[in-house]
Amino acid sequence: MAAQQPKVSLTGIKPTGEPHLGNYIGAIRPSLELTSTYESIYFIADYHALTSIRDRRELASYTRSVAATWITLGLDPARTIFYRQSDVPEIFELSWVLSCVTGKGLMNRAHAYKAARDRNAESGVADLDAGINMGLFNYPILMAVDILIMNTDVVPVGQDQSQHVEYAADIAGSFNHLFGDVFSLKIPEGIYPAGISARALPGTDGRKMSKSYKNTIPLFAPEKQLRKLIRGIVSDSTPVEQPKDPDASAAFALYENFATPEAVKEMRTRLEQGGTGWGELKNALFETVNAWLSPLREQYEALVAPGSELDAILDAGAEQARDRARPVLEGVRRAVGISPL
Ligand code: TRP
Repeated sequence: MAAQQPKVSLTGIKPTGEPHLGNYIGAIRPSLELTSTYESIYFIADYHALTSIRDRRELASYTRSVAATWITLGLDPARTIFYRQSDVPEIFELSWVLSCVTGKGLMNRAHAYKAARDRNAESGVADLDAGINMGLFNYPILMAVDILIMNTDVVPVGQDQSQHVEYAADIAGSFNHLFGDVFSLKIPEGIYPAGISARALPGTDGRKMSKSYKNTIPLFAPEKQLRKLIRGIVSDSTPVEQPKDPDASAAFALYENFATPEAVKEMRTRLEQGGTGWGELKNALFETVNAWLSPLREQYEALVAPGSELDAILDAGAEQARDRARPVLEGVRRAVGISPL
């Protein structure tokens, strides 16, 4: 019997900020782990970011730093197809076709759109659609295209993206119902690996580490800044000699994610016994994170610099992505009647 084709796993990364420790634990590490069991296709969803980013330098620099980060942390372009969404024009053509089979009512019920309207309602704005652009409204269709055009089997994402993956399956179903006798789109499935957004890593103020709270610790901050940010993590004023509760500490939660189990266990005991201050914990956290990242910083700096080999990597990825997208788009065009007359 012929060996079964490995299933295709695809995910998109929105370049809306400097990658931070929370992104590593929540998305980068679990996604990279999947590359050994699936054929993996990962891409930078730069046109999705355009729904909110209005500064060309910002969009370009986040795109570059996110791509450089994934490669530095272990994405192997020889094993994973890695590209920029905007380099695959087939995606945008399919986006129009699929918007023609998608009910507007479905889009009205999308969480992100509803949340934007709710915010208007709460602040007493009369027009609930005020400030909402069509990119935000159409976002789930573009994401469905990302998934469907690559014949994806599984989409590893955080639970917050589950509705989007269900929409992709719904939209594929609508297309197949209307045109499937000529060409069918594959129905994808969401998978939610433990780790992807399951456990929120705390930021410097103790709340979930998130760009919107301005409490992030960037992965490739210069060493001095990394130290300063870690020293600035909130802690209570329990004196050094008193016993402390490690589970109430943001710095300890971070330490648990980056130090070895033995080091974590030892630190827990020392904090609980008293005699170890929060400052000492933060020093240990800095040393641990810095020991991991400092050998990688140079590679990151080289990749992120303009004109580095990153461009060739992404170009080659785009070629591979387009080779996969083309036959799917061809099938769709044929199915709907856009073919040579
Ligand atoms: N919406 C996803 C997010 O906000 C990013 C994304 C875009 C994506 N296209 C995708 C994720 C396709 C998975 C598959 O994180």
